Amino acid sequence: MRPTQSCFPATRLRRTRQSAAVRAMVRQNTLSVDDFIWPVFVRSGEGVEEPIASMPGVMRRSVDRIVDVAREAADLGIPAICIFPYTGLEERTEDCAGAWDPDNHANRAIRAIKAAVPELAIMTDVALDTYNINGHDGFVENGEIVNDRTVDALVKMALSQAEAGADIIGPSDMMDGRIGAIRSALEAQGHQNVMILSYAAKYASAFYGPFRDAVGASGALTGDKKTYQMDPGNSDEAMRLIERDLTEGADMVMVKPGLPYLDICRRVKDSFGAPTFAYQVSGEYAMIKAASENGWVDHDRVMMESLMAFKRAGCDGILTYFAPDAARLLAKG
Ligand code: PBG
Repeated sequence: MRPTQSCFPATRLRRTRQSAAVRAMVRQNTLSVDDFIWPVFVRSGEGVEEPIASMPGVMRRSVDRIVDVAREAADLGIPAICIFPYTGLEERTEDCAGAWDPDNHANRAIRAIKAAVPELAIMTDVALDTYNINGHDGFVENGEIVNDRTVDALVKMALSQAEAGADIIGPSDMMDGRIGAIRSALEAQGHQNVMILSYAAKYASAFYGPFRDAVGASGALTGDKKTYQMDPGNSDEAMRLIERDLTEGADMVMVKPGLPYLDICRRVKDSFGAPTFAYQVSGEYAMIKAASENGWVDHDRVMMESLMAFKRAGCDGILTYFAPDAARLLAKG
């Protein structure tokens, strides 16, 4: 209930905006380094740091360099990183067997980071797109992205990540039934403490464009992902997906993309009260970078304002490529 409010001049709402001290005192939401999960890209090779043209400042790194980044994350106080593999066309197959190979780039990175920086939480990506010859998150049979056979593969992929030492499994594939299947397999194989952060409300979005360059999927992808990712016109369906994934054993849920879907973040937080994350995706990052490189907006201020928006919308945390930059700014105070 809104308390009654007297009118002007008894009430002057500018009174509580008059100084930095008072503004700080009445501020409802704050941003902290604890809010960040930093997505990073791992590729083959050694000593490799390869820039991604559509994501200025973001690199694909070989496993040895990813370990350096993990140490940097921990030194900055960032609680978690999220590992995405980059695969060239020659590493992709129709049977996607690379996805559950214990020695794929992502799993090697998990082992190396766990050995070097054990205090850092590691999140993974579960979906077939980075190993699939056609760039889809599931197996394709006669032009159809098939559900149940894909879920069996996702379970193998998730188990290989848990065995490598992942703390948080991140299914981003949007197949039906995968959270329940992954949760039962984790329980059965002695991984009771491995968490699942479900990409529960993931939209079929054009904002993923730069990411698909980053992981090598742009050239591979045939068609679109609209038969499994959500229609941007829907909101109630997001609630059904979140509820379903929580019921099947997700510990945390995600809305993706971020800024264009803050209404969904707010509904999710208000309806379920579960740990709620948003993914400020590659296209959102690229837009801010491009505008600031042109001198059209102030990079640091727009970055911090965009991150604060997630907190205001009810998110408990944000996956963001800005994590190290924002952490450094927050440390300066
Ligand atoms: C796919 C996946 C995507 C992203 C994370 N996992 C892209 C897609 O669904 O095509 C996008 C992340 C970003 O744009 O930053 N498994």
